Formats: sequence, C-alpha cells, structure tokens
Amino acid sequence: MQYNASEFLIETIVPQDELIVSRTDLNGIITYANEGFCEISGYSSDELIGKSHNIVRHPDMPSLVFKDLWQTIQSKKQWIGVVKNLRKDTGFYWVEAIVSGVYKDGVLVEYKSLRMPVNYETKLKHQKLYDKMRVENGEKTRKITYI
Ligand SMILES: Cc1cc2nc3c(=O)[nH]c(=O)nc-3n(C[C@H](O)[C@H](O)[C@H](O)COP(=O)(O)O)c2cc1C
Repeated sequence: MQYNASEFLIETIVPQDELIVSRTDLNGIITYANEGFCEISGYSSDELIGKSHNIVRHPDMPSLVFKDLWQTIQSKKQWIGVVKNLRKDTGFYWVEAIVSGVYKDGVLVEYKSLRMPVNYETKLKHQKLYDKMRVENGEKTRKITYI
C-alpha cells in the first residue's frame, strides 16, 4: 500500500477527556466501537464492526509489538502498550492502550481495549524504538510517496 504524504504525516491529537473503546471477538474481529474510537480513527461504526482490528494498523508498528499483545492477552493477562494507529484518511494518532479479556461467567468471551492520550516525549520515544525494532527485525521502513 502506498500513502499520500500530505495526509500520512498529519497527526490527530487524542483529547484528554476522550474515551476510546473497542471490543473484539477472540480472533481480533471488531464487535464494538464507541463514538470516540470512530471519531479518532475516522471510520463509522458500520465500517469497523466485522473487520479485523488491524484495519487501524500503522505500517510504523513492528509486528513484534502485536505478537507480544496477543501472547499476553491469550494467557489471560492485561497488556499495556503505546500504539501508533492509522486513520481512514491515512493520518495517524498515538494512544496508550490497555487490552484485556471480557469474561462471562468466568469464561473468556471477547477482548476489550481502552485508550488514553500520550504525551509528546512518549510518542517520540516510541517512534524511535519502533523504527529501530522494524529495522532489527527486517521489516519494511516507511513508504511515503511525495507528490
Ligand atoms: C481488543 C484489541 C484491540 C486492538 N487494538 C489495536 C489497535 O488499536 N491497533 C492495532 O494496530 N492493532 C490492534 N490490535 C491488534 C490487531 O488485532 C492486530 O494483531 C494488529 O493490528 C497487527 O495486525 P496483524 O495481526 O494482521 O499483523 C488489537 C487487538 C485486540 C484484541
């Protein structure tokens, strides 16, 4: 996929009081997206529900981060991490996500993610870390087409 640089480089800032929530089935298919998640990702809930949560995966994110996320939540632990996500318009936003299981009568039925805004230093630190991780893991570097 190629990205149009003019949108790709635009950050959407997550407001302090915004509640960004989504839920997935056990395979990572979105089952619920609140208004805050729709707003920040640029999708309607109809466009999100039924899709894989990787719909908002940003190419700057190393696959190892998501491997760790899945290993953690599948072993019924809570995962907390800083994530750069891709908007529908190919812009981006940063969040700190808390991903954990949803239980019904003690049985794991879904996963949920709650997100909070992150500060500039945290974004910068993670951009550098993720760039390094992708290079070390032989993953692609950024693909931007300047027009
Ligand atoms: C509840 C939940 C929330 C998730 N939130 C995100 C997210 O905001 N951004 C993201 O890129 N992946 C998120 N993921 C991970 C995706 O399912 C997926 O593993 C990731 O985007 C990498 O894509 P891939 O598995 O196709 O390589 C979430 C997973 C779960 C279970």
